[in-house]
Amino acid sequence: MELTSFIVMDVLEKAKEMERAGEHVVHLEVGEPDFPLPAEVAEAAARAVRSGQNKYSQSMGIPELREAISQYYLSNYGVEVEPERIFVTPGSSPALLAAIKIFADEKGERVAYTDPGYPCYKNMVRFLGLKEVPVKVFEENFFKPTPGELKGFDVMVINSPSNPTGAVYSPSELEDLVKRAEDENFLIISDEIYHGISYGDRDHTILEFTDRAIVINGFSKFFAATGWRLGWIVVPRDKVRLMQCVAQNLFICAPTPLQYGALSFFEEAVVDKCRGYVREYKKRRDYLLSELKRLGFHINYEPMGAFYIFADISGFGTDGFSFSMRALSEAKVAITPGVDFGSNMTQRYVRFSYANSLENIKTAVERLSEWLKRS
Ligand SMILES: Cc1ncc(COP(=O)(O)O)c(C=O)c1O
Repeated sequence: MELTSFIVMDVLEKAKEMERAGEHVVHLEVGEPDFPLPAEVAEAAARAVRSGQNKYSQSMGIPELREAISQYYLSNYGVEVEPERIFVTPGSSPALLAAIKIFADEKGERVAYTDPGYPCYKNMVRFLGLKEVPVKVFEENFFKPTPGELKGFDVMVINSPSNPTGAVYSPSELEDLVKRAEDENFLIISDEIYHGISYGDRDHTILEFTDRAIVINGFSKFFAATGWRLGWIVVPRDKVRLMQCVAQNLFICAPTPLQYGALSFFEEAVVDKCRGYVREYKKRRDYLLSELKRLGFHINYEPMGAFYIFADISGFGTDGFSFSMRALSEAKVAITPGVDFGSNMTQRYVRFSYANSLENIKTAVERLSEWLKRS
């Protein structure tokens, strides 16, 4: 089994080494919200620990949290999702692995994902011994597949808002995808982990268009709680029992005190706070997008969600990997080479994460500007 490493981790390690040697690095490589956990949630989790909620929970998650997530689907998307179909998982990543295996067992071993796209999909497919089907997407089409390309596989993982491009599928694109899945006989796994971090209309879940899909989401991005390792999966009714067996055998359960703490994420004041985080992301995106264009990066699309800009560096006469390594050692700005996200034209790109303060982003832009003038 051959898994690829995450080059961004190599960048991060080199940056940490430089920091240990006393240098100052601006981190625009990591895909992790910089905002704090809302205090209400921290307090609720601490209360759960103190009051003795420190044992295993039900493998599917505590009923109160599954009910709260079900309510969230109703109020956010106007979709009824019975709590029975919702499983709380230790982060969204193991939920993704389970989703891919469950749908591949039903439909077939060819699993598609976009290239460029989130690299763990490919590695999960490899890990499970299934067949990888990368679907090439291009900046001209806002990094989204065209309908004609959606065939020749059994399962497709989609990701909107997307890592690394910030692409967001419109309701009609999701509807077309569902139609296409029926016509071409494939199943859809929708990774909605960046839902809520969108700069146009509200996000639309695939469940507004079908209940035959599996949905993945969690508390890592909009709710800014990456270290909690708390996610959820919504499965079709006929997969509930199977998913329960998967949870019992593979996860046991998600961390119990954090599940109680997570109930507070759905309080209005907390959701409002997280919406405030999104307004900050938007300010950063607007600033960074226009500055990168001014510096000579080619960016001919508007990233509409998540906190990433996938920028074409071909105008600088080098490849994305060398560009990233030199930006780190010479400009002290850490960014991720595009090759981390696939092999379709990715050597031309680097990914900027703006999950960092506007002040730090401004410092990064100044440094890049000076460096590009010098080199
Ligand atoms: C597209 C995508 N899906 C899933 C994940 C994993 O999220 P979690 O922290 O819930 O495991 C990430 C994390 O960066 C991601 O970018």
